[in-house]
Amino acid sequence: MTLASEVDLQQLFTREHHRIHLVGVAGSGMSGIAALLLELGHDVSGSDKVGSLETDRLQRLGLRFQAQHRAEDATEAELVIFSSAIRDDNPILVSACAAGKPLVRRAEALAAIMSGKRGIVIAGMHGKTTTSAMAAHVLREGGMHPSHYVGAEIPLLGSNAHWDPRGEYFVAEGDESDGTLRFFKPEHTLVLNIEEEHLDFYADLAAIETVFLQLLDQTSGAVFYCADDLHAGRICGSRDGSISFGFAPDADYRGTDIDLQDFASVFCVFRRGEKLGEAVLNVPGRHNVSNSLGVIALATELGIPFEKIVTSLRRFEHARRRFEIKYESDRFLLVDDYAHHPTEIRATLATAKSAGRNRVLTMFQPHRYSRTQALRREFGRAFDNADRILVTDIYPASEAPLPGISGQTIADEIVAHGHRAVSYQPRLERLHCDLGNMIAAGDLILSLGAGNIHEQLSILAADLVIAERLKEIVGEEGDVRLYEPLAKHTTLRVGGPAQFWVEPRNETAFAGLIRYCRRENLPLFVIGRGSNLLVRDGGIRGVVVHPCGGEFDRVEVAGNEITAGVGAKLKQVAYAGKAAELGGLEWMEGIPGAVGGGLRMNAGAMGAQTFEHIARIRYLDGEGNAHTKTPAELEIKYRHVPSLDHNYAVSAVFRGTSAAPEEIARRLDESQEKRRTTQPSAKSAGCIFKNPASGPAGKLVDELGLKNSRVGNARVSEVHGNFIVNEGGATAAEVLELIERIKQVARTQRGVELETEVQIVGEPA
Ligand code: EPU
Repeated sequence: MTLASEVDLQQLFTREHHRIHLVGVAGSGMSGIAALLLELGHDVSGSDKVGSLETDRLQRLGLRFQAQHRAEDATEAELVIFSSAIRDDNPILVSACAAGKPLVRRAEALAAIMSGKRGIVIAGMHGKTTTSAMAAHVLREGGMHPSHYVGAEIPLLGSNAHWDPRGEYFVAEGDESDGTLRFFKPEHTLVLNIEEEHLDFYADLAAIETVFLQLLDQTSGAVFYCADDLHAGRICGSRDGSISFGFAPDADYRGTDIDLQDFASVFCVFRRGEKLGEAVLNVPGRHNVSNSLGVIALATELGIPFEKIVTSLRRFEHARRRFEIKYESDRFLLVDDYAHHPTEIRATLATAKSAGRNRVLTMFQPHRYSRTQALRREFGRAFDNADRILVTDIYPASEAPLPGISGQTIADEIVAHGHRAVSYQPRLERLHCDLGNMIAAGDLILSLGAGNIHEQLSILAADLVIAERLKEIVGEEGDVRLYEPLAKHTTLRVGGPAQFWVEPRNETAFAGLIRYCRRENLPLFVIGRGSNLLVRDGGIRGVVVHPCGGEFDRVEVAGNEITAGVGAKLKQVAYAGKAAELGGLEWMEGIPGAVGGGLRMNAGAMGAQTFEHIARIRYLDGEGNAHTKTPAELEIKYRHVPSLDHNYAVSAVFRGTSAAPEEIARRLDESQEKRRTTQPSAKSAGCIFKNPASGPAGKLVDELGLKNSRVGNARVSEVHGNFIVNEGGATAAEVLELIERIKQVARTQRGVELETEVQIVGEPA
């Protein structure tokens, strides 16, 4: 193996052209090196486990990319650069080493490329990416044509790294996480803050300081440091020619009169007591004002006029995932942030709080087991400004799990600190559902973490766009909820979430929903009281309409006709009949469903069924147009009304027959008594099976000896064989398995093919 130090890397990278291979090229740091090398004219190849948006972009610039690490793909390379996440046994490293090729670490390569220019390193534990992007932007706007390398994609700069042959300066974000800061020999260094971090790599704060001190010793020009940071001040303050910035009265570049607005800050800048003027920073947060003071100090010392700096700062836009607004409306604000250290979390939450919304709801994905373990107490105290916190499990980066350390560790610390509104959801993919279901108008929703939690916020943002449109359709009186658990809306008490739960209050709103779903190709499902429904554990995708309240709950009597909205309970129709001395409807007392479900199913009891008592119904068709039809104009079957498969009932007119009040009361009592004595009171979906031609399904199940048979918490009722009851916490999967078992036994022992009466909908978990 040739040690990289034996080769003049600066000459090789910046003045010659070579074939170079990068191992782990998809990472945000490595992709920046690849971009620089391509711009410097090298022939660049790279490998990684998977591609990324960055590798796609680089391929367009000439990178030859392989989504696996194979030695044969790098045989032509004269030199190999590797990321610190790559293990020693990587086949490309092993073979390059055997062939005696130079192996270069990412930071070494960066340092060598930077040494071809006048280097400016931005270092510190928090805010490096924002600050280095800001510095590159201000220098660029100042006409200095800087090259740059920052740790994230910066839309404003066009890319995360860029080599500009015209300029003298090179602004780089220095990564302290693995000790590689020591490779840099810059002209200037800007230190933002120093504290305990990356304790997977460093023994303690002293070890961190050693690396920073070496960087400072290797800095030929000025050291800029934040005067408000204890350790940065202590380490940098005594150095000759060091320049301080911050809010402290003795800072060389000092910010005062800070006015933190929603998404911007206005402040005054003084240089050694002399007022330079006012600045406006277009990214929120006091910590960013501090970072910008560092950039103002640097740019001023490099000779850029203050006015020019101020204009550039005003135009500065954030890096991705730094208080990035994913969705904004009068009702909601969704923000994503990369914060993963307690200090960063506190700063981001303070910014969120100052945005002036009602509540701040936060989802947090801890990053690395080692950090979670080392800073657990600090994490517990970092969330005071959040009204609700959902913690998910740890994003491991490249670490192996540590025993007893998980997202629960942080949730427990937050509770121990006295903040009760926290819960732990180990399944990341459920976060958007849990959080989406608790949002209310006025909330700011924040995703925090350096892993992949932002994807959950993106899903929520996309669904919120649709939810807001649905809300407009149903108006002020209607209700729209995201990811409503359907277990709350079914009598069996099982079922996953409805992607969009919508409660219209009148026919116009319902028609509007039908038209919108049709136009947007969104599935639409209507649910009444959920009494004959089995929703699978994955819930229902699309819009679930629950017509209730307003027009839909109305029950009116005129002559011998009772008009009821689909949201009214069948039981109410029976009692309205009683009040008006109209009989024949008493059996409805025993049906737990609403009018809508009764119509759709042609529900029945005591030998009667719904459509025998219907004069006419009103429904909306698939285009949202209303129709009124008599039963004779509809296709109606036992427990199924095909005419309502693709139409949506809104109301029905029942016809009663004049009867003596005592007679009605007697029949109601009879129905009640029958139900009480022959049906279970536990949670159920009513009869599970249609009665086959051979006789009642309940009797069959009973005879087959299947009563009380169970799967998990789903059990066949002891009272009635055609009921499956939920003993508490049963899942749809359990109920479905029990149904299958019953069907199987009926088939093999009696040759009877049982058909479910209960409607089974939704997706498996
Ligand atoms: N039976 C048994 N063992 C049992 C259950 C029933 O031997 O475990 C016998 C009963 O003794 C009776 C016969 O089976 O001789 C029929 O039972 P039941 O009178 O309870 O009527 P069903 O046909 O099981 C129907 C409806 C129910 C409705 C009742 C009451 C169907 C599939 N079910 O039940 O509707 O409440 O009549 O009128 O038509 C529903 O649709 O969800 C529902 C519960």
